[in-house]
Amino acid sequence: MKVISIVGARPQFVKAAPLSKKLREKFTEVLVHTGQHYDPNMSEVFFKELEIPEPDYNLGVGSGSHGEQTGKMLIEIEKVLTKEKPDLVLVYGDTNSTIAGSLAAAKLHIKVAHVEAGARSFNRLLPEEINRVVTDHLSDLLFCPTETAVKNLEKEGITSGVFKTGDVMYDAVLQFSKIAKQKSKILEKLQLETGSYLYATVHRAENTDNPKNLRSIIEAFSRSGEKIVFSVHPRTRKMLKEIELPPLPNVMMIDPVGYLDNLVLEENARKILTDSGGMQKEAYFLKVPCITMRNETEWVETVKDGWNVLVGADKEKIQKAIEQFKPNDKQSNHFGDGNASGKIAAILNE
Ligand code: UD1
Ligand code: UDP
Repeated sequence: MKVISIVGARPQFVKAAPLSKKLREKFTEVLVHTGQHYDPNMSEVFFKELEIPEPDYNLGVGSGSHGEQTGKMLIEIEKVLTKEKPDLVLVYGDTNSTIAGSLAAAKLHIKVAHVEAGARSFNRLLPEEINRVVTDHLSDLLFCPTETAVKNLEKEGITSGVFKTGDVMYDAVLQFSKIAKQKSKILEKLQLETGSYLYATVHRAENTDNPKNLRSIIEAFSRSGEKIVFSVHPRTRKMLKEIELPPLPNVMMIDPVGYLDNLVLEENARKILTDSGGMQKEAYFLKVPCITMRNETEWVETVKDGWNVLVGADKEKIQKAIEQFKPNDKQSNHFGDGNASGKIAAILNE
């Protein structure tokens, strides 16, 4: 069987790493990188560190408005699919690369498999929600990370081809956290002690494109007085230049780091502050309390279990959570057994 996997953005490289390895044991995989993320620290570093094979195609689409970026991807992906004639197209998560891949394949009557199917925030103002809903409705095989995801699909009438496999991001954390501990020198480089800092990332459109929200988040960081290591996504870097910043002597802004450094920064932080989907889950897997600067989350289990709290972009709520949020002692196992990629490969084989 020939599978075309489509990736393009940072979290998709992480998700593809464990699965690509499993797929290549039994199938021919052709890897397509749309070029949505292209800075070396947003793309290349993940291929190197996670030993993901070189993409067979890099479509070089780059940045743009939603229509422009998705449209260019659609044109280029269609050419690849027409030439390669795969049996299946595999897409990951919820980015514009995901919707472009699933739409191009479905229109050519090629079967679509969606990894991380069924995740929902129930907020259609978020571009990710539109990408997920459309992709799920176009997919023949839907690999759900959690029971909640299976139920979300059921409510939309999707019951056939649905499999609860667990989360490939959990596979990645289990596979790479030991390697990260051995290889990463990031704590020494930034002169950080375990537990002496909070680790932050912000990149969602609702927080970066809205200057009020971005300013509110940064003011909360400033007022907390805590040492905050802030990995700044290029989108956020651009928007920060456009707002007036408060003094930030306690905030260490760094460029995005590779996955191994990121795991180490997460694991050794006292708390994680983020609006990232992947980071909420990784905080949970690594048992680090998470403060999520969004009003809703797809990863409701992390909140229900008491390891994640939703604070939106509200300055007071962020500050209060920085001071007071304490996680529960226990966690339940919602995200599988760390072999989601093995299960997905086995299902495809059948
Ligand atoms: C995208 C996804 C989002 C995901 C995130 C992961 C969509 C709609 N959004 O958001 O769901 O959480 O990736 O990080 O697909 N830029 C660079 N260099 C890069 C990449 C981006 O400078 O390598 C800058 C450009 O100014 C670009 C902006 O970041 O316009 C946004 O990039 P884009 O890929 O459109 O969206 P993300 O915010 O990264
Ligand atoms: N990540 C990383 N370096 C960073 C910030 C994040 O390697 O500086 C990783 C993180 O470990 C996770 C993934 O990027 O696996 C999450 O991607 P992102 O937050 O960009 O997107 P989202 O998950 O919100 O779609």
